[in-house]
Amino acid sequence: MKALVLAGGLGSRLRPFSYSMPKQLVPVANRPVLLHCLDRLREVGITDVAIVVSSERGQAIRDAVGDGSQHGLRLTYLSQEAPLGLAHCVQLAADFLGDDDFLMYLGDNIFASGLGELAETFRRDRPAVQLVVTKVPDPSEYGVAEVDPDGRVDRLVEKPKNPTSDLAVIGVYFFTAAIHEATRRIQPSARGELEITDAIQWLVAGGADVRAAIYTGYWRDTGRIDDMLECNRVLLESTEHRLLGEVDAASEVCGPVAIEPGARVVRSRIVGPAVVGADSVVVDSYIGPYTALGRGCVLAGAGIEYSIVLDRVSVRDVRGIHGSLIGRSAEVCLSDGDLARHRLVIGDDTRVEVVA
Ligand code: DAU
Repeated sequence: MKALVLAGGLGSRLRPFSYSMPKQLVPVANRPVLLHCLDRLREVGITDVAIVVSSERGQAIRDAVGDGSQHGLRLTYLSQEAPLGLAHCVQLAADFLGDDDFLMYLGDNIFASGLGELAETFRRDRPAVQLVVTKVPDPSEYGVAEVDPDGRVDRLVEKPKNPTSDLAVIGVYFFTAAIHEATRRIQPSARGELEITDAIQWLVAGGADVRAAIYTGYWRDTGRIDDMLECNRVLLESTEHRLLGEVDAASEVCGPVAIEPGARVVRSRIVGPAVVGADSVVVDSYIGPYTALGRGCVLAGAGIEYSIVLDRVSVRDVRGIHGSLIGRSAEVCLSDGDLARHRLVIGDDTRVEVVA
Protein backbone atom coordinates (compact mmCIF):
# COMPACT_ATOMS: atom_id res chain seq x y z
CA MET A 1 0.00 0.00 0.00
CA LYS A 2 1.19 3.52 -0.84
CA ALA A 3 0.26 6.78 0.90
CA LEU A 4 -0.81 10.20 -0.28
CA VAL A 5 -0.32 12.98 2.26
CA LEU A 6 -2.09 16.29 1.67
CA ALA A 7 -0.05 19.24 2.85
CA GLY A 8 -1.23 22.01 0.54
CA GLY A 9 -4.20 24.27 1.22
CA LEU A 10 -4.34 27.79 2.59
CA GLY A 11 -4.55 27.23 6.34
CA SER A 12 -6.77 30.29 6.70
CA ARG A 13 -8.02 29.18 10.13
CA LEU A 14 -4.46 29.09 11.42
CA ARG A 15 -3.56 32.67 10.61
CA PRO A 16 -1.27 34.46 11.33
CA PHE A 17 1.02 31.39 11.46
CA SER A 18 0.00 30.17 8.04
CA TYR A 19 1.11 33.47 6.44
CA SER A 20 4.75 32.57 6.97
CA MET A 21 4.73 28.77 7.11
CA PRO A 22 2.53 25.92 5.88
CA LYS A 23 0.15 24.97 8.71
CA GLN A 24 1.42 21.39 8.56
CA LEU A 25 4.82 22.59 9.81
CA VAL A 26 3.52 24.20 13.01
CA PRO A 27 4.98 22.02 15.78
CA VAL A 28 3.07 20.10 18.41
CA ALA A 29 5.24 18.67 21.18
CA ASN A 30 8.16 20.28 19.29
CA ARG A 31 7.64 18.26 16.13
CA PRO A 32 5.85 19.54 13.01
CA VAL A 33 2.35 18.10 12.62
CA LEU A 34 3.43 16.65 9.26
CA LEU A 35 6.21 14.60 10.84
CA HIS A 36 3.71 13.09 13.29
CA CYS A 37 1.72 12.02 10.19
CA LEU A 38 4.76 10.41 8.60
CA ASP A 39 5.46 8.52 11.86
CA ARG A 40 1.97 7.01 11.67
CA LEU A 41 2.56 5.84 8.06
CA ARG A 42 5.87 4.19 8.85
CA GLU A 43 4.29 2.39 11.81
CA VAL A 44 1.84 0.61 9.47
CA GLY A 45 4.62 -0.44 7.10
CA ILE A 46 4.09 2.15 4.34
CA THR A 47 7.29 3.48 2.79
CA ASP A 48 6.23 4.87 -0.60
CA VAL A 49 4.65 8.25 0.05
CA ALA A 50 3.66 11.22 -2.13
CA ILE A 51 3.12 14.58 -0.44
CA VAL A 52 0.92 17.20 -2.12
CA VAL A 53 2.28 20.68 -1.38
CA SER A 54 1.16 24.06 -2.61
CA SER A 55 3.37 25.50 -5.31
CA GLU A 56 3.71 28.66 -3.20
CA ARG A 57 4.67 27.08 0.15
CA GLY A 58 6.01 23.70 -0.95
CA GLN A 59 9.67 24.60 -0.60
CA ALA A 60 9.37 25.05 3.18
CA ILE A 61 7.97 21.51 3.43
CA ARG A 62 10.70 20.05 1.20
CA ASP A 63 13.33 21.80 3.37
CA ALA A 64 11.82 20.49 6.60
CA VAL A 65 11.12 16.90 5.51
CA GLY A 66 13.71 16.23 2.80
CA ASP A 67 13.64 13.10 0.66
CA GLY A 68 12.34 11.01 3.53
CA SER A 69 15.45 8.90 3.97
CA GLN A 70 15.95 10.11 7.52
CA HIS A 71 12.37 9.07 8.33
CA GLY A 72 12.68 5.67 6.67
CA LEU A 73 10.42 6.70 3.75
CA ARG A 74 10.68 7.30 0.00
CA LEU A 75 9.01 10.65 -0.64
CA THR A 76 7.71 12.14 -3.87
CA TYR A 77 6.51 15.76 -3.87
CA LEU A 78 3.56 16.83 -6.01
CA SER A 79 2.98 20.51 -6.48
CA GLN A 80 -0.60 21.86 -6.52
CA GLU A 81 -1.16 25.27 -8.14
CA ALA A 82 -4.22 26.14 -6.01
CA PRO A 83 -6.27 24.37 -3.30
CA LEU A 84 -8.74 22.84 -5.72
CA GLY A 85 -9.90 20.13 -3.35
CA LEU A 86 -9.03 16.77 -1.84
CA ALA A 87 -10.26 14.86 -4.90
CA HIS A 88 -8.11 17.12 -7.08
CA CYS A 89 -5.11 15.94 -5.03
CA VAL A 90 -5.98 12.32 -5.88
CA GLN A 91 -6.13 13.26 -9.58
CA LEU A 92 -2.75 14.96 -9.29
CA ALA A 93 -1.28 11.78 -7.80
CA ALA A 94 -2.79 9.40 -10.38
CA ASP A 95 0.55 8.49 -12.01
CA PHE A 96 2.27 7.99 -8.65
CA LEU A 97 -0.58 5.80 -7.34
CA GLY A 98 -1.19 3.68 -10.44
CA ASP A 99 -3.61 0.85 -9.55
CA ASP A 100 -2.25 0.41 -6.04
CA ASP A 101 -4.28 0.60 -2.84
CA PHE A 102 -3.42 3.72 -0.88
CA LEU A 103 -3.96 5.50 2.36
CA MET A 104 -4.78 9.20 2.04
CA TYR A 105 -3.74 11.24 5.05
CA LEU A 106 -4.76 14.86 5.65
CA GLY A 107 -1.49 16.43 6.74
CA ASP A 108 -3.08 18.64 9.41
CA ASN A 109 -4.71 15.76 11.29
CA ILE A 110 -3.16 14.10 14.33
CA PHE A 111 -3.94 10.49 15.20
CA ALA A 112 -2.15 10.05 18.53
CA SER A 113 -3.00 6.38 18.95
CA GLY A 114 -1.76 5.08 15.62
CA LEU A 115 -3.48 3.51 12.62
CA GLY A 116 -2.52 -0.15 13.04
CA GLU A 117 -5.99 -1.61 13.58
CA LEU A 118 -7.54 0.47 10.77
CA ALA A 119 -4.87 -0.60 8.26
CA GLU A 120 -5.28 -4.24 9.32
CA THR A 121 -9.07 -4.12 8.79
CA PHE A 122 -8.65 -2.57 5.32
CA ARG A 123 -5.96 -5.05 4.27
CA ARG A 124 -8.16 -7.94 5.46
CA ASP A 125 -11.56 -6.87 4.06
CA ARG A 126 -10.44 -4.72 1.13
CA PRO A 127 -13.65 -2.78 0.45
CA ALA A 128 -13.55 -0.21 -2.39
CA VAL A 129 -13.15 2.51 0.24
CA GLN A 130 -12.70 2.43 3.98
CA LEU A 131 -13.44 5.73 5.71
CA VAL A 132 -12.53 6.51 9.25
CA VAL A 133 -15.20 8.15 11.40
CA THR A 134 -15.61 9.34 14.94
CA LYS A 135 -18.41 10.92 16.96
CA VAL A 136 -18.04 14.69 17.28
CA PRO A 137 -20.19 17.30 19.04
CA ASP A 138 -20.57 19.50 15.91
CA PRO A 139 -20.56 17.34 12.76
CA SER A 140 -21.48 20.29 10.51
CA GLU A 141 -17.76 21.22 10.30
CA TYR A 142 -16.88 17.88 8.70
CA GLY A 143 -17.80 15.36 6.09
CA VAL A 144 -20.66 13.43 7.72
CA ALA A 145 -21.38 9.71 7.18
CA GLU A 146 -24.61 7.78 7.62
CA VAL A 147 -23.46 4.29 8.51
CA ASP A 148 -25.55 1.11 8.91
CA PRO A 149 -25.02 -1.26 11.87
CA ASP A 150 -22.63 -3.43 9.78
CA GLY A 151 -20.35 -0.45 9.06
CA ARG A 152 -21.55 0.10 5.48
CA VAL A 153 -21.83 3.73 4.42
CA ASP A 154 -25.31 4.67 3.16
CA ARG A 155 -24.68 8.36 2.50
CA LEU A 156 -21.99 10.99 2.79
CA VAL A 157 -22.37 14.77 2.85
CA GLU A 158 -19.65 17.44 3.12
CA LYS A 159 -20.22 19.92 5.96
CA PRO A 160 -24.05 19.65 6.02
CA LYS A 161 -26.00 22.47 7.69
CA ASN A 162 -28.31 19.95 9.32
CA PRO A 163 -26.31 16.77 9.91
CA THR A 164 -28.27 13.53 10.00
CA SER A 165 -25.54 11.63 11.85
CA ASP A 166 -22.97 12.49 14.51
CA LEU A 167 -20.20 10.55 12.71
CA ALA A 168 -17.57 12.85 11.20
CA VAL A 169 -15.22 11.64 8.50
CA ILE A 170 -11.72 12.22 9.83
CA GLY A 171 -8.39 12.63 8.09
CA VAL A 172 -7.42 9.10 7.02
CA TYR A 173 -8.99 7.30 4.06
CA PHE A 174 -8.17 3.87 2.66
CA PHE A 175 -8.73 3.59 -1.08
CA THR A 176 -8.56 1.01 -3.82
CA ALA A 177 -8.07 2.19 -7.41
CA ALA A 178 -11.90 2.51 -7.68
CA ILE A 179 -11.59 6.09 -6.39
CA HIS A 180 -9.87 7.34 -9.55
CA GLU A 181 -12.89 7.14 -11.83
CA ALA A 182 -15.03 8.68 -9.07
CA THR A 183 -12.78 11.77 -8.85
CA ARG A 184 -13.35 12.30 -12.59
CA ARG A 185 -17.15 12.00 -12.32
CA ILE A 186 -17.79 14.84 -9.87
CA GLN A 187 -18.17 18.62 -10.22
CA PRO A 188 -16.65 21.33 -7.97
CA SER A 189 -18.73 22.05 -4.84
CA ALA A 190 -20.18 25.38 -3.74
CA ARG A 191 -16.79 26.27 -2.21
CA GLY A 192 -15.18 25.59 -5.59
CA GLU A 193 -13.38 22.38 -4.58
CA LEU A 194 -13.46 18.85 -5.94
CA GLU A 195 -14.61 17.20 -2.71
CA ILE A 196 -13.37 13.73 -1.87
CA THR A 197 -16.66 13.31 0.01
CA ASP A 198 -18.57 13.76 -3.27
CA ALA A 199 -16.30 11.26 -5.07
CA ILE A 200 -16.92 8.67 -2.36
CA GLN A 201 -20.67 9.43 -2.40
CA TRP A 202 -20.57 8.79 -6.17
CA LEU A 203 -19.22 5.30 -5.40
CA VAL A 204 -21.85 4.75 -2.68
CA ALA A 205 -24.62 5.74 -5.11
CA GLY A 206 -23.25 3.26 -7.66
CA GLY A 207 -23.45 0.41 -5.12
CA ALA A 208 -19.72 0.12 -4.32
CA ASP A 209 -18.60 -1.43 -1.04
CA VAL A 210 -17.82 1.65 1.06
CA ARG A 211 -17.28 1.06 4.75
CA ALA A 212 -16.58 3.16 7.80
CA ALA A 213 -14.29 2.15 10.64
CA ILE A 214 -14.80 3.91 13.96
CA TYR A 215 -11.67 5.45 15.46
CA THR A 216 -11.71 5.38 19.24
CA GLY A 217 -8.21 6.76 19.85
CA TYR A 218 -7.24 10.42 20.19
CA TRP A 219 -7.73 12.39 16.97
CA ARG A 220 -7.70 16.11 16.22
CA ASP A 221 -7.86 18.28 13.10
CA THR A 222 -5.24 20.90 14.03
CA GLY A 223 -6.82 23.53 11.78
CA ARG A 224 -7.43 25.90 14.70
CA ILE A 225 -5.17 27.25 17.43
CA ASP A 226 -7.18 25.79 20.32
CA ASP A 227 -6.93 22.36 18.67
CA MET A 228 -3.15 22.74 18.30
CA LEU A 229 -2.85 23.51 22.02
CA GLU A 230 -5.02 20.54 22.94
CA CYS A 231 -2.98 18.23 20.70
CA ASN A 232 0.19 19.58 22.22
CA ARG A 233 -1.18 18.73 25.66
CA VAL A 234 -2.06 15.18 24.69
CA LEU A 235 1.23 14.45 22.88
CA LEU A 236 3.30 15.95 25.70
CA GLU A 237 1.66 13.43 28.09
CA SER A 238 4.07 10.84 26.69
CA THR A 239 7.21 12.99 27.15
CA GLU A 240 10.17 10.93 28.31
CA HIS A 241 12.09 12.55 31.12
CA ARG A 242 15.55 13.32 29.68
CA LEU A 243 17.86 16.08 30.73
CA LEU A 244 20.31 16.37 27.84
CA GLY A 245 21.00 20.07 28.41
CA GLU A 246 22.38 21.78 31.54
CA VAL A 247 20.26 22.38 34.64
CA ASP A 248 21.95 24.32 37.48
CA ALA A 249 21.64 23.40 41.15
CA ALA A 250 19.31 26.32 41.86
CA SER A 251 16.71 25.03 39.39
CA GLU A 252 13.93 22.52 40.00
CA VAL A 253 12.66 20.17 37.32
CA CYS A 254 9.68 17.97 38.15
CA GLY A 255 7.39 15.68 36.17
CA PRO A 256 8.33 14.43 32.71
CA VAL A 257 10.53 17.11 31.15
CA ALA A 258 12.74 16.85 28.07
CA ILE A 259 15.61 19.31 27.98
CA GLU A 260 17.29 19.06 24.60
CA PRO A 261 21.05 19.26 23.98
CA GLY A 262 22.61 22.70 24.29
CA ALA A 263 19.69 24.09 26.35
CA ARG A 264 20.47 25.77 29.70
CA VAL A 265 18.18 26.15 32.69
CA VAL A 266 19.29 28.59 35.40
CA ARG A 267 17.44 29.44 38.69
CA SER A 268 14.17 28.28 37.14
CA ARG A 269 11.31 25.89 37.84
CA ILE A 270 9.99 23.54 35.18
CA VAL A 271 6.94 21.41 35.83
CA GLY A 272 6.27 18.79 33.17
CA PRO A 273 5.07 17.51 30.88
CA ALA A 274 7.18 20.04 29.03
CA VAL A 275 9.92 20.27 26.42
CA VAL A 276 12.74 22.81 26.24
CA GLY A 277 14.17 22.83 22.72
CA ALA A 278 17.86 22.63 21.82
CA ASP A 279 20.01 25.71 22.56
CA SER A 280 17.25 27.53 24.46
CA VAL A 281 18.14 29.48 27.61
CA VAL A 282 15.72 29.66 30.55
CA VAL A 283 16.73 31.99 33.39
CA ASP A 284 14.75 33.02 36.51
CA SER A 285 11.63 31.64 34.86
CA TYR A 286 8.74 29.25 35.37
CA ILE A 287 7.66 26.80 32.68
CA GLY A 288 4.44 25.05 33.60
CA PRO A 289 2.77 21.84 32.37
CA TYR A 290 1.96 21.28 28.70
CA THR A 291 4.48 23.78 27.34
CA ALA A 292 6.66 23.08 24.31
CA LEU A 293 9.48 25.56 23.91
CA GLY A 294 11.24 25.51 20.52
CA ARG A 295 14.91 25.83 19.68
CA GLY A 296 17.11 28.84 20.39
CA CYS A 297 14.56 30.60 22.64
CA VAL A 298 15.41 32.93 25.54
CA LEU A 299 13.12 33.07 28.58
CA ALA A 300 14.27 35.46 31.28
CA GLY A 301 12.00 36.35 34.19
CA ALA A 302 9.21 34.64 32.27
CA GLY A 303 6.25 32.49 33.32
CA ILE A 304 4.43 30.33 30.81
CA GLU A 305 2.26 27.23 30.77
CA TYR A 306 -0.06 25.29 28.40
CA SER A 307 1.54 26.95 25.39
CA ILE A 308 3.46 26.35 22.17
CA VAL A 309 6.50 28.54 21.62
CA LEU A 310 8.20 28.33 18.24
CA ASP A 311 11.94 28.70 17.56
CA ARG A 312 14.03 31.73 18.57
CA VAL A 313 11.30 33.40 20.66
CA SER A 314 12.35 35.72 23.46
CA VAL A 315 10.18 36.35 26.52
CA ARG A 316 11.56 38.78 29.10
CA ASP A 317 9.96 39.81 32.40
CA VAL A 318 6.45 38.73 31.43
CA ARG A 319 4.73 36.15 33.62
CA GLY A 320 1.31 34.55 33.56
CA ILE A 321 1.37 33.51 29.90
CA HIS A 322 -1.19 30.73 29.33
CA GLY A 323 -2.86 29.04 26.35
CA SER A 324 -0.60 30.88 23.89
CA LEU A 325 0.97 30.10 20.55
CA ILE A 326 3.99 32.34 19.90
CA GLY A 327 5.47 32.48 16.39
CA ARG A 328 9.10 32.23 15.30
CA SER A 329 11.53 34.95 16.46
CA ALA A 330 8.72 36.83 18.27
CA GLU A 331 9.59 39.03 21.24
CA VAL A 332 7.41 39.43 24.32
CA CYS A 333 8.75 41.95 26.83
CA LEU A 334 7.90 44.71 29.28
CA SER A 335 7.67 48.19 27.87
CA ASP A 336 10.65 50.27 28.99
CA GLY A 337 8.65 53.49 28.68
CA ASP A 338 5.41 54.48 30.40
CA LEU A 339 4.23 51.32 32.16
CA ALA A 340 0.56 52.26 31.78
CA ARG A 341 0.73 51.76 28.01
CA HIS A 342 0.95 48.66 25.86
CA ARG A 343 3.10 48.86 22.72
CA LEU A 344 2.07 46.27 20.16
CA VAL A 345 3.96 45.43 16.98
CA ILE A 346 1.91 42.49 15.73
CA GLY A 347 1.07 41.05 12.33
CA ASP A 348 -2.21 40.58 10.50
CA ASP A 349 -4.92 38.34 11.98
CA THR A 350 -3.16 38.20 15.32
CA ARG A 351 -4.99 38.01 18.64
CA VAL A 352 -3.62 39.53 21.84
CA GLU A 353 -5.50 39.25 25.15
CA VAL A 354 -4.35 41.51 27.96
CA VAL A 355 -5.43 41.70 31.58
CA ALA A 356 -7.25 44.96 32.38
O1 DAU B 1 -10.42 16.95 9.11
C1 DAU B 1 -11.39 16.14 8.50
C2 DAU B 1 -12.12 16.87 7.37
O2 DAU B 1 -11.13 17.21 6.38
C3 DAU B 1 -13.21 15.98 6.74
O3 DAU B 1 -14.25 15.76 7.68
C4 DAU B 1 -13.81 16.66 5.51
O4 DAU B 1 -14.73 15.80 4.90
C5 DAU B 1 -12.70 16.97 4.51
O5 DAU B 1 -13.22 17.68 3.38
C6 DAU B 1 -11.62 17.83 5.19
O6 DAU B 1 -12.19 19.10 5.48
P1 DAU B 1 -11.36 20.43 5.76
O7 DAU B 1 -12.16 21.61 5.32
O8 DAU B 1 -10.90 20.41 7.20
O9 DAU B 1 -10.10 20.26 4.79
P2 DAU B 1 -8.88 21.23 4.64
O10 DAU B 1 -9.19 22.28 3.64
O11 DAU B 1 -8.40 21.67 6.03
O12 DAU B 1 -7.78 20.26 4.01
C7 DAU B 1 -7.31 19.09 4.65
C8 DAU B 1 -5.83 18.91 4.33
O13 DAU B 1 -5.64 18.80 2.92
C9 DAU B 1 -4.93 20.07 4.77
O14 DAU B 1 -3.70 19.53 5.24
C10 DAU B 1 -4.70 20.89 3.52
C11 DAU B 1 -4.75 19.83 2.44
N1 DAU B 1 -5.28 20.30 1.14
C12 DAU B 1 -6.53 20.81 1.07
C13 DAU B 1 -7.07 21.22 -0.14
C14 DAU B 1 -8.48 21.76 -0.21
C15 DAU B 1 -4.50 20.18 -0.01
O15 DAU B 1 -3.33 19.71 0.07
N2 DAU B 1 -5.02 20.60 -1.21
C16 DAU B 1 -6.29 21.10 -1.33
O16 DAU B 1 -6.70 21.43 -2.46
